[in-house]
Amino acid sequence: MRNLVQLLPPLVLPILSFFILTLSLIHAKSVIEPCSSSDSCTSLLSYILPWDSKISEIASRFQVNISDILAANSINPEIPSLGNQILRANFHVKVPISCPCVDGIRWSMSTTYRVQEADTAESVSHGYGGIVSAEQITIVNGINASNPLLNRQSLVIPLPCTCFNNSNNGVTTVYMSYVVQSGENLSSIGLEFGTTVMDLKAINGLGQPAIDQGDILAIPISACSSKNLNWYNESLIVPNGSYALTANNCIKCNCGASDLNLRCFPSGIAVPCSHLQCKGSNLFVGDAYVNQTAAGCNVSTCMYRGHSGGKIFRSLSSSSYVQCPGKQNYSAASPLGSPSSPNPLIPFITVTPSPSPFPGSTRTVLLPLVLQVHNIQTYLIMVACLAKIHVAIYCYWPLSFIISCDN
Ligand SMILES: *[C@@H]1O[C@H](CO)[C@@H](O)[C@H](O)[C@H]1NC(C)=O
Ligand SMILES: *[C@@H]1O[C@H](CO)[C@@H](O)[C@H](O)[C@H]1NC(C)=O
Ligand SMILES: *[C@@H]1O[C@H](CO)[C@@H](O)[C@H](O)[C@H]1NC(C)=O
Ligand SMILES: *[C@@H]1O[C@H](CO)[C@@H](O)[C@H](O)[C@H]1NC(C)=O
Ligand SMILES: *[C@@H]1O[C@H](CO)[C@@H](O)[C@H](O)[C@H]1NC(C)=O
Ligand SMILES: *[C@@H]1O[C@H](CO)[C@@H](O)[C@H](O)[C@H]1NC(C)=O
Ligand SMILES: *[C@@H]1O[C@H](CO)[C@@H](O)[C@H](O)[C@H]1NC(C)=O
Ligand SMILES: *[C@@H]1O[C@H](CO)[C@@H](O)[C@H](O)[C@H]1NC(C)=O
Ligand SMILES: *[C@@H]1O[C@H](CO)[C@@H](O)[C@H](O)[C@H]1NC(C)=O
Repeated sequence: MRNLVQLLPPLVLPILSFFILTLSLIHAKSVIEPCSSSDSCTSLLSYILPWDSKISEIASRFQVNISDILAANSINPEIPSLGNQILRANFHVKVPISCPCVDGIRWSMSTTYRVQEADTAESVSHGYGGIVSAEQITIVNGINASNPLLNRQSLVIPLPCTCFNNSNNGVTTVYMSYVVQSGENLSSIGLEFGTTVMDLKAINGLGQPAIDQGDILAIPISACSSKNLNWYNESLIVPNGSYALTANNCIKCNCGASDLNLRCFPSGIAVPCSHLQCKGSNLFVGDAYVNQTAAGCNVSTCMYRGHSGGKIFRSLSSSSYVQCPGKQNYSAASPLGSPSSPNPLIPFITVTPSPSPFPGSTRTVLLPLVLQVHNIQTYLIMVACLAKIHVAIYCYWPLSFIISCDN
């Protein structure tokens, strides 16, 4: 650690609110984010599996919870004994890590590795998919010829991470550290992760687009935020392509890939959970009810509003629309806005639709809800209703939006 920090003082220049340095740590480039506060943020590692691994092994390699790995990779949590599922070598696993400020830079130092016989710094680096180089491992742990790796020694694994205020051009963003693979360039990486060469250059402080195998890039992943949802006692940032469990695992919030809006509903995996039904209605969190009236369409939704001290806050909101255009055929095989759409990228794991968390309940309709919030004043609500007759009704252009709290 000491040696690494000694490399830094000339680099920790006057810290503007936000600036970036690309540091050539021995040979590979990586982005360094100076910091001064004691806060931390959520960030991701893109871990390219060096060999076939159980999800539980990946979790213990990085000392994160299995459930957090499942959530970051949008693997349905309801499948039993998921920790024993094996992911194939070369699969890209997103590993969520907390990104604190350590000695003036963003860097995670909380993962440790127990040295085994025949390990070298290179083999340990390989085991972590090259996300940390052999040189960094030796520098941080003071390993040298006279102070070699010892069997059973505990090594600190310094993991690269960045926060950049969880924002990118005003969009809520989670940053993912990514090891450049052989043959990749900024445009191929941009294409893979839905970002641009210009963004990648700016974020990583690259003067020119040349990158080399083994370089570490910070890749912006757009995210859903609860910031504008007016939640009590809670804020959530959920990267695109993942979900988060909250309220003691009673609530699952998905990040909508198309609209970057949080959709929260009962997770169905934790018992007991109370306070899931909106007062004065038979709607549960995440449900919507569409009432076609002569004047148009009245949509009532039961929304999650945060949690505190074992209590889940939720509120019934209703919106009126001039029209409920187009009754459309709705195929149960294409569950639009379904809470549990499978992630097609996960090999060999078949995701079954989540059963209703309330098998015995007497709800009249169960409606997956897609909610778009552009700003406080303007709401565009699109509701897909899966009624008994498999008809979807889309409602647009609210005339009003009324929130009544019932906590
Ligand atoms: C970080 O983002 C928040 C809002 O998301 C903003 O108010 C704040 O000024 C930003 N801080 C910096 C240092 O950019
Ligand atoms: C893992 O889960 C346990 C219990 O749910 C929690 O106390 C702990 O903080 C979690 N660890 C991490 C790294 O999130
Ligand atoms: C090896 O590292 C130890 C402690 O990390 C240090 O005291 C020693 O001077 C180093 N030796 C060499 C040859 O660099
Ligand atoms: C980047 O890589 C892709 C595929 O690997 C290749 O088709 C493309 O020509 C490369 N672009 C540049 C600018 O080198
Ligand atoms: C929770 O929210 C209430 C108001 O909604 C506030 O008074 C209280 O301080 C908050 N508690 C925490 C721990 O943030
Ligand atoms: C979210 O990710 C999906 C692919 O995983 C992508 O198609 C979509 O464009 C992304 N959405 C945003 C807003 O970046
Ligand atoms: C639907 O709206 C009409 C007119 O506002 C009202 O009379 C009726 O009770 C509503 N139906 C339900 C189920 O709320
Ligand atoms: C919509 O329905 C809710 C709940 O049924 C009701 O409170 C509200 O007044 C209705 N709004 C309109 C415009 O009918
Ligand atoms: C629904 O689909 C069937 C055949 O797939 C078609 O005959 C029918 O007109 C459709 N109904 C609506 C409302 O689009």
